[in-house]
Amino acid sequence: MFIRNTWYVAAEPQELDSGPLGRTILSTPIVLFRTESGQVSALENRCPHRMVPLSLGKVVGEHIQCGYHGAQFDAQGSFKLVPGQTSLPNVCVRSFPTVVKHGYIWIWMGDPEQATDLSSIPDFMYRGDHPEWDGGYGHFESIQAAYSLINDNLFDITHAEYVHPGSFGGEEMRIYRRSEPGIDFIDQKMTYDIQEREITFRLRSLGMEHGGPFYRWMVSTGMGVEHYSGKVDLDMRVDWGAPSFTSFLLNARPHGEQADRGVQVCNMHAITPETEASSHYFYRSVKNYGGQELVGPFIQGVRAIFEQDKPILEAQQKNIGTQGIAAMRPVSFAGDLLFQKARAINEALLEAEQALAPAVTL
Ligand code: FES
Ligand SMILES: [Fe+2]
Repeated sequence: MFIRNTWYVAAEPQELDSGPLGRTILSTPIVLFRTESGQVSALENRCPHRMVPLSLGKVVGEHIQCGYHGAQFDAQGSFKLVPGQTSLPNVCVRSFPTVVKHGYIWIWMGDPEQATDLSSIPDFMYRGDHPEWDGGYGHFESIQAAYSLINDNLFDITHAEYVHPGSFGGEEMRIYRRSEPGIDFIDQKMTYDIQEREITFRLRSLGMEHGGPFYRWMVSTGMGVEHYSGKVDLDMRVDWGAPSFTSFLLNARPHGEQADRGVQVCNMHAITPETEASSHYFYRSVKNYGGQELVGPFIQGVRAIFEQDKPILEAQQKNIGTQGIAAMRPVSFAGDLLFQKARAINEALLEAEQALAPAVTL
């Protein structure tokens, strides 16, 4: 069961540069393509003639041409040409609304009449496509794990000490377990704020001697020195938007420096369900300081972190199988609080959607 009346990331724009792209989203095969005039379109990836995926065809002007017998469809999925035939079948390939925003192509898989509402595209994703933020070093991966498990993982800073000891992790980050409601940065505490479909939390750790090595890397590169060995002050603001968007804004500086003089890195994660047990993971990391010389190590670091999470999540999914994790009655730790809140938000959205539009099927 998926939340449908919401925008998901379908692709990065450059993925359509070489022609139609086939991708399964919410268990539905989709073809994404860009016409010659630049219009982005998403259709069901199945030609109504002999059911061949349209993604095996090509773009011809404003149409997509099926790779089997050459039928052409416009961006809305209407037949425009059947080679050697004057009459056209009066059927349409199902189309899905798309929009380009924050450097991504977004898709609406629910009731098309509600697609004019863009409010489910989180504003905090803006740094993915903003001149003050260097990069857009995004990459796409497919993970054999449910989107909800990836959501849990992103909320759960406590795993960093064990899964990411060379970057974000460290004993000093255990402050995540000391949480209270609020919107202020409090040293050695995590504060959180829960809205209708967004959760924000903030951590501050002043005077870190070890902490996560990545924060020290930020300070060193911000100062332009090989290795800064003093204490580090860190602020981390995390914004989550339902169903599956997370932005980590990190501010690191030498101990005692004003927060507004820190250097910042933002990691944005957009998770799109592929099936009930697999996901598309769109990842983008940007920074607001330094030059191109930092890009290589920066991407390398990000990639390494991603590779550390992936086997854990996939092994976890294997152990859970097709049932939801809740059915297995997992034990709870203090650090689980926020992902449980996020799960409750998503479940409420799903229930509300099903109560209003039980007939939406694909
Ligand atoms: S299968 Fe597409 S035109 Fe025949
Ligand atoms: Fe992780």
